[in-house]
Amino acid sequence: MHKIIEKKLNYKKFTVNSNLQYFKPHATKIEKTFEEEVSSSLNTPLKSIHPKFFYDKKGSDLFEKICFLPEYYPTRTEISILKKLGNDLSEYLDNDVRLVELGSGSSVKTKLILDVLTKLQEKTEYFPIDISDILTESSGQLLQDYDDLHITGIIDTYEGGLEFLKTYDGKKNLIIFLGSSFGNFLPSEGSDFLKKINSTMKRGDLFLIGLDLVKNKTILEPAYDDSEGITAKFNLNVLSRINNELDADFNLENFSHHAIYNEDDQRIEMYLKSLVNQSVVLSKSNLSITLKKDELIHTEYSYKYRLSQISELLNSTGFEIKHTWLDKNQYFSLTLASKN
Ligand code: AVJ
Repeated sequence: MHKIIEKKLNYKKFTVNSNLQYFKPHATKIEKTFEEEVSSSLNTPLKSIHPKFFYDKKGSDLFEKICFLPEYYPTRTEISILKKLGNDLSEYLDNDVRLVELGSGSSVKTKLILDVLTKLQEKTEYFPIDISDILTESSGQLLQDYDDLHITGIIDTYEGGLEFLKTYDGKKNLIIFLGSSFGNFLPSEGSDFLKKINSTMKRGDLFLIGLDLVKNKTILEPAYDDSEGITAKFNLNVLSRINNELDADFNLENFSHHAIYNEDDQRIEMYLKSLVNQSVVLSKSNLSITLKKDELIHTEYSYKYRLSQISELLNSTGFEIKHTWLDKNQYFSLTLASKN
């Protein structure tokens, strides 16, 4: 009992109005800063920048653009599956279930699920979990669209937010993790993450995950190297971010976007390729790095899955699959699972 109270007190509640509130952890968690992570991952023989750093304002806007590119099939395919799934979902749901989203998501997708839930129950709760404070922006629109929606944002890491939710109350949760965001995890990290999610779930809770499927290179590579060069801009933007936030002097003209599909490892690999021998100074970190011509900075993995691997992955992390929905081309998947 004492423990539970303590946990709840670790978060501060902010009430915006009767339909919108959010929780924020009191203590700042011991997480590494942008500066610490980037300066150390660039100061090694195999240089890298973590993909979570793509999403400053400019990067988020560019990602939004990527989602509508003709070559980038994941977003529109997932939306098309969500439209079909809406008809089937209610048979798996209790009459009192809350929607929990990992990431504050694109409201188009969230709305397709909320459409189902709001028809099933008088009052619907939506708990987005997101580390960034932008929750309140997207919430405004959702509150206008649904009369009986109650939004509770949890501003924390996915793990932290789910732990918080575990002690919050006994209500059933439908946890959604869409957009193939899971694809950024290395297989071992991904498996740990699913175990973590599973450990915070109660019996009767459900988990819906959107995963991109293995397909031909001729479809995969253009999706990550589009003809308009938007993905290239998105990738290169992380260098601008480092310039702005860490007082660095990356010259973007000296780098090119490089995206290949690694068939053996079933992943898109994105890099920034140094076009010349050069050195770059990150003033804030008191760091100077050198790059050889053709040297690569790794920026992203985007893993693709086979249907058999999805079942293996979920079964080995404590889930029981209820149903998998696919599009007609079998480009993308949405899998609903419960705790085993
Ligand atoms: C946001 C990780 C799902 O891997 O498809 C898109 C990111 N990178 N184009 C993906 C991304 C380049 C995207 N995820």
